[in-house]
Parts: sequence; structure tokens; C-alpha cells
Amino acid sequence: MAKTCDEIDNAASGLTNTERVRSIFASIAPGYDAFNAVASFGIDRLWRRNLVRGAGLTPASAVLDLAAGTGDLSLALAKQGRPASVLGTDFSPEMLEVAARKGAAYDGPTALRFEVQDAQALTLQDTAFDVVTVAFGVRNFPDRAANFREVLRVLKPGGRYVVLEFSRPPFAPFRALYHFYLNVGIPLIGGMLTRDRASFVYLNRSIRCFPAQEALAEELRAAGFREVSWRNLTFGVVAIHTAVK
Ligand SMILES: C[S@@+](CC[C@H](N)C(=O)[O-])C[C@H]1O[C@@H](n2cnc3c(N)ncnc32)[C@H](O)[C@@H]1O
Repeated sequence: MAKTCDEIDNAASGLTNTERVRSIFASIAPGYDAFNAVASFGIDRLWRRNLVRGAGLTPASAVLDLAAGTGDLSLALAKQGRPASVLGTDFSPEMLEVAARKGAAYDGPTALRFEVQDAQALTLQDTAFDVVTVAFGVRNFPDRAANFREVLRVLKPGGRYVVLEFSRPPFAPFRALYHFYLNVGIPLIGGMLTRDRASFVYLNRSIRCFPAQEALAEELRAAGFREVSWRNLTFGVVAIHTAVK
């Protein structure tokens, strides 16, 4: 039987997936923002802004941002969405250190803070949040079902899970070009900016192995979310899925 993407990656590294992902982000944390800006040609900011616009925030919203990394989405949520609070979480203290530095310069109405949390096993109260967000995190969770269970637990009834993630461009010639860029361009740029080419080979694979739009929507429905929908951005390079508890 053909090996899954995870089996191939684990065999290559000798580490479990969770440990491996954590060590990858610990190692690339200092160069992560520069890599993002260069590799996405700056479009990643527009993608996050799009998520904030569609998240249905009000000044009373309590927001949980999962896999917040260096904090760009948490900050965009605070600055552009202006909800009551944003709790940015990640399981990598190294990534959150960068987020906390950037967050210290934020001076707006939203209560913004960062906290170490594993998105698959949150130590947060039931029904505490109106909106849960995640940008470029879900594809790194080895157990997505566990994450979906946790999000359903911490969301209020009627609350929304908004997921921004790399996806599958539907137009085949564009997809071929994009996959060539993933295979060749991403490890090259990542290697130059962080001196850690191997991590970007992993990241490329994690993008290629992630379920396409409809398959992710089906996983969310199967987990118990309703009114699942998605929007493609940049010809389907990324998609924003929205799911209601
Ligand atoms: C590609 S970065 C995305 C960061 C940020 N959301 C952004 O938009 O730039 C993925 C992040 O997911 C985090 N991550 C991966 N698995 C996780 C888990 N199980 N729990 C919490 N964070 C996780 C990594 O530490 C990393 O910071």
C-alpha cells in the first residue's frame, strides 16, 4: 500500500509528527516573517485581511487565534476587526516570543495577549469564544479531528471557526505552475532566509498533502460543524473555510 505523506515524513525524520512540527517552527521562528513576505510576494497580508473581514466580528467578540505563530493574524484581528479580545495561541514558545514583541507595540481597544497552547488539547474553558481562527496552522496538526473537537468545545453555540489554509487551485495549468514553485522556489527561498532548507521541504510537502477544498469541508461537517462554506483566494492557492457550531 502507498505510504501516506505523514508516514513518509516521519520515516525520514525519526520523530513523531507533533515533535517534528514543533522543532521545525522553533528553528525557523526568527526568519519566519521575512520568509512569508518574500515567498508569498506580500499577498499573505491580503489573505489574512480577507479572513478578518469575513469573520463576522463585533466589538463584543471574544476571539481565539490558534497556531498564531509570530502573531500576524492575531494583530490583524485586533487592528482591523477590533473585537473585545484576541487570545493568540501556539505550541511553539519561540514563535510566540516574536508575536509578543510585535504585540507589545499594539495600542488599540482590543485586549490582545499570547499564550502557549496545543491546538489539539486546549486548556481553555468550554464555550468561551465567539470566533476561533487559524491561518496556515491546520495542515500542521497531525490529528485534525482532535482540533475540531476542541474548537467545538471552546466555541459558544452559533460561534464560527474560520480557517485560512493553502488549498488546491482548480485550474490545472495554474496548479502545475504553482506546484513547481512549491517544489523548487519555496525550499530555495526558505533555505536562503533561514539556513534551514529541510524545514521548507517539509512545509512544501505539508501543503501538497493537505486535503482540497471540498474534502476539508467534509471533514468539518463530519466533525459536527454546520453551514460549512469556503472562498478561494488567489485562484485557489488558499481558501478560507467558515464553519458554524
Ligand atoms: C505556518 S505557521 C502560521 C503562523 C500564523 N498563523 C500566520 O498566519 O503566519 C504555523 C504555526 O502552527 C503552529 N502549530 C503547529 N502545530 C500546532 C499545534 N498542534 N498546536 C499549536 N500550534 C501549532 C506552529 O508552531 C507555527 O507557529
